[in-house]
Amino acid sequence: MSSAPLADAARLLRRARKVVAFTGAGVSTESGIPDFRGPEGVWARYDPLEFSYERFVERAESRRAFWRFGAELRDLLDAAQPNAAHRALAELERRGQLTALITQNIDRLHQRAGSRAVIELHGNADEVVCLDCARVEPIAAVSARLLAGEDDPKCLRCGGVIKTRAVLFGEEMPERELEGAFRAVRGADLLLVVGSSLLVQPAAHLVPSARMAGARILLVNLEETPYDDLADVVLRGKAADLLPRLLD
Ligand code: APR
Ligand code: ZN
Repeated sequence: MSSAPLADAARLLRRARKVVAFTGAGVSTESGIPDFRGPEGVWARYDPLEFSYERFVERAESRRAFWRFGAELRDLLDAAQPNAAHRALAELERRGQLTALITQNIDRLHQRAGSRAVIELHGNADEVVCLDCARVEPIAAVSARLLAGEDDPKCLRCGGVIKTRAVLFGEEMPERELEGAFRAVRGADLLLVVGSSLLVQPAAHLVPSARMAGARILLVNLEETPYDDLADVVLRGKAADLLPRLLD
């Protein structure tokens, strides 16, 4: 661990020409969206097993819990604004230093902050897809049905089970995004990890993959992660505070 981490981190960033950013829920907590495993995280209030793909498909009660949580999250997503961390990452892309921004988040705040090269590893909550006939509709149509009192909405075309594109535990991750993410980190000279506990695979494996391909690792997180010892520099603190200072 270095003595002047912020200065070391800024030097790493200044030298980097092919930065890949990898973000988790911690980059959006300062926009009012709870993370999962922090002190007030979602998994402190909901049982993650309840949100497994298998249970969602098989149990009406799990789907009802999912849509209730989804409605609560939808209010937070609609009220959320990108914060200084999202904006700093968009600025890094504008400067031509950032080649890809891989996110585990479904809140689309990176896109709303101006980031374009975004890879959504865990999908997003803006579209709903039918698991039987693959019909896709915008979340607004389903939100209206939930508000009107439906609690387990089914596909209007075939009656099949519908769900948002947000990836659930045990669900296949989007193949194209996963491949794109690993290809991006293999070509990076710096992996900038922001706000992830790095506990969920295969996403977290991006860190050792980047390291093995010769990238430097800069980790910005409030708490320790299993990959801290792989990092060249670890900044312990809040992303919306640290990232803008890194870019100065
Ligand atoms: N600044 C920096 N770090 C923060 C901040 C902040 N403002 N707020 C929280 N953190 C840190 C927390 O300390 C925690 O280590 O961000 C990390 C968030 O970790 P998780 O809550 O586990 O979120 P994430 O890593 O994105 O989870 C991965 O797990 O539940 C699934 O699919 C879900 O995409 C999610 C995946
Ligand atoms: Zn259908």
